[in-house]
Amino acid sequence: MRIQKILVTGANGQLGWALSQAAKVTPNFECIFLDRHAMDLSIPSELERIVELFAPSAIINAAAYTAVDKAETETKLAHTINAEAVAVFASIAKNKNIPFITYSTDYVFSGNATSPYTTDSPLAPINFYGQTKADGELMALAVNPDAIIIRTSWVFSSHGNNFVKTMIRLMKERDSLNIVGDQKGRPTYAKDLAFASIQVLNAINAGATIKGIYHYANAGETTWFDFAQKIKELAGLDCQLTAINSDQFPTPAKRPAYSVLDTQKIEKELNLYIPHWELALSDCILQLKNN
Ligand SMILES: NC(=O)c1ccc[n+]([C@@H]2O[C@H](COP(=O)([O-])OP(=O)(O)OC[C@H]3O[C@@H](n4cnc5c(N)ncnc54)[C@H](OP(=O)(O)O)[C@@H]3O)[C@@H](O)[C@H]2O)c1
Repeated sequence: MRIQKILVTGANGQLGWALSQAAKVTPNFECIFLDRHAMDLSIPSELERIVELFAPSAIINAAAYTAVDKAETETKLAHTINAEAVAVFASIAKNKNIPFITYSTDYVFSGNATSPYTTDSPLAPINFYGQTKADGELMALAVNPDAIIIRTSWVFSSHGNNFVKTMIRLMKERDSLNIVGDQKGRPTYAKDLAFASIQVLNAINAGATIKGIYHYANAGETTWFDFAQKIKELAGLDCQLTAINSDQFPTPAKRPAYSVLDTQKIEKELNLYIPHWELALSDCILQLKNN
């Protein structure tokens, strides 16, 4: 079936919003964006009925339980949204024979590696949020091996809550900030991830077989400290930044020391150019300045 109508969940999230912006310049698809009021993933038994109302020819699940620290205690809700609901979508997509894209995280890995994680690297979730996302991956693929799971990391956008916006706010409020300098990863611009997701559907329409696990993050790697330095420079702010170690910034959920994702598979299969994170960041900061 040719993909024309896409149902997108999580309309108000960073990625959901970026997809809605991308949809404006992608006239070949009709997109239906549903927020949590229209489609609540904490009630998986309701999802099929709502999907039926719209009869989509593809589903993109941009909704998720993303409160990483809260997930350590709100375990049931996090698991329902990130695993059970994802498996239900995968099953619906299988029955309807339509593509299903959902997203996972670098936190499905231990963070102990010293070279980039590939899509085949063994799962060893570092925290409960990572566990729910790993469960979602396995449960979705068990009911629908054609499900498309895109793992991503360090997502930022001019919309929603993220490190870039928090840093800009704090750098305006304070004279100095301590930032973790011993965790390394790949920042991901929601706008670029949205574009890549649309490319997946274009590729399927063109006859490509895209299924299983993929990694998407912007090119390059950095630490939170160096990321913050670049934010400060590009936003033209004046605040003293000091690099600290993770043990000086304890959080309820553990964070990985190294969670760089290897994105070669998606680049090759989609013939995709992935912009460097610094380029993506400058676009994001320009958007923020223009807002
Ligand atoms: N953010 C990151 O750094 C990061 C890193 C790795 C992977 N990911 C993954 O990337 C994907 C996109 O993340 P994001 O950054 O766009 O997340 P986000 O900005 O936190 O957006 C998540 C969206 O999910 C919605 N949501 C939460 N609970 C819901 C429920 N019960 N029913 C329906 N919708 C619900 C939220 O609704 P409200 O707007 O009403 O709260 C929000 O719009 C997710 O799968 C996430 O796990 C994100």
